Amino acid sequence: MKTDDAVIRCEQLTKRYPGHVMAVDRLDLSVKCGEIFGLLGPNGAGKTTTIGMLTTLVVPTAGRAAVAGIDVVSHPSMVKQLIGTVSQVNNLDRSLTVWENLYYHGRFFGMGARESREAADKSLVEFRLSERAKSDVATISGGMARRLQVARALIHNPSVLFLDEPTAGLDPQSRIALWDILRRLHTSGQTILLTTHNMEEADSACDRLAIMDRGRLLAIDSPKNLKKTVGADTIVTVSSDGDLDALARRLQDRVEGATRSRQIDGVVQLQVKGRTGVLPRVVSVAEQEGFAITDLSLAEPTLETVFINLTGKELRD
Ligand SMILES: Nc1ncnc2c1ncn2[C@@H]1O[C@H](COP(=O)(O)OP(=O)(O)OP(=O)(O)O)[C@@H](O)[C@H]1O
Ligand SMILES: [Mg+2]
Repeated sequence: MKTDDAVIRCEQLTKRYPGHVMAVDRLDLSVKCGEIFGLLGPNGAGKTTTIGMLTTLVVPTAGRAAVAGIDVVSHPSMVKQLIGTVSQVNNLDRSLTVWENLYYHGRFFGMGARESREAADKSLVEFRLSERAKSDVATISGGMARRLQVARALIHNPSVLFLDEPTAGLDPQSRIALWDILRRLHTSGQTILLTTHNMEEADSACDRLAIMDRGRLLAIDSPKNLKKTVGADTIVTVSSDGDLDALARRLQDRVEGATRSRQIDGVVQLQVKGRTGVLPRVVSVAEQEGFAITDLSLAEPTLETVFINLTGKELRD
């Protein structure tokens, strides 16, 4: 495989589960040192399977992947030493306390008793879990459990941190707390690969994103560049009674600057070049075509728009 500054590299990486589910289909991607890289896609896109292959838990059907230049199939135990993983589900050891979860993880990764003890103590302070050091992990909140999973994944100073849906199921406050942690790690140079369904988070936090659907990579770039590919500046959402497919067609044909229009989930979404005067143009075309508008809103393109343009469907489904 090529050597460059990529910490993670996949070439034609493929996983077909028994029963012919093509979970990941010839995935090419690389993640640079120090990047926060996001895998964004709906349920079943293949995000967890991709992380599974990169973290050596899932054996690829074809293609290759390397972490820090080490092949994940031929040297899985070397790769495991170099990575930290936060899985989609809470897999903390319920028979241990908060502190013990960190300590024994360090020991498992070959750290001496003293080194591991010091790392666990330091980590509890850093992750604001000291007060719960002696608690049973079953008794801590979901937000704390996720923070503890991240803390545990980092005990042995991994080169790459993998996080599968790190903020899923967390309340807003715990989400913010977790993102504070991830941003701080990013600033300190930690390479992070995470998966998410959440476009706002992906947009604001990731340096680059891979948009996946049904195992395929659809696009890979920075959030800013991905949004540029929309080729429109304004997204108009129109609610109306009547035949929405017909309204979508009329708006696309007649609104000046319209680049794309479609009915999605009971509303019409129109993509328009330019920002000024869009609203009156839409209202007047709809009225002339005999549609009564019941609601109207303007927004800038988002990653959701990018996803809709790539797949014809919404990411939130
Ligand atoms: N162990 C397995 N055996 C068979 N099929 C599987 C297995 N794990 C996942 N799949 C299938 O592979 C596809 C990709 O699943 P995967 O869990 O990687 O998606 P995902 O993007 O992580 O989805 P989610 O957002 O729901 O977590 C799905 O069709 C899923 O049903
Ligand atoms: Mg998943």
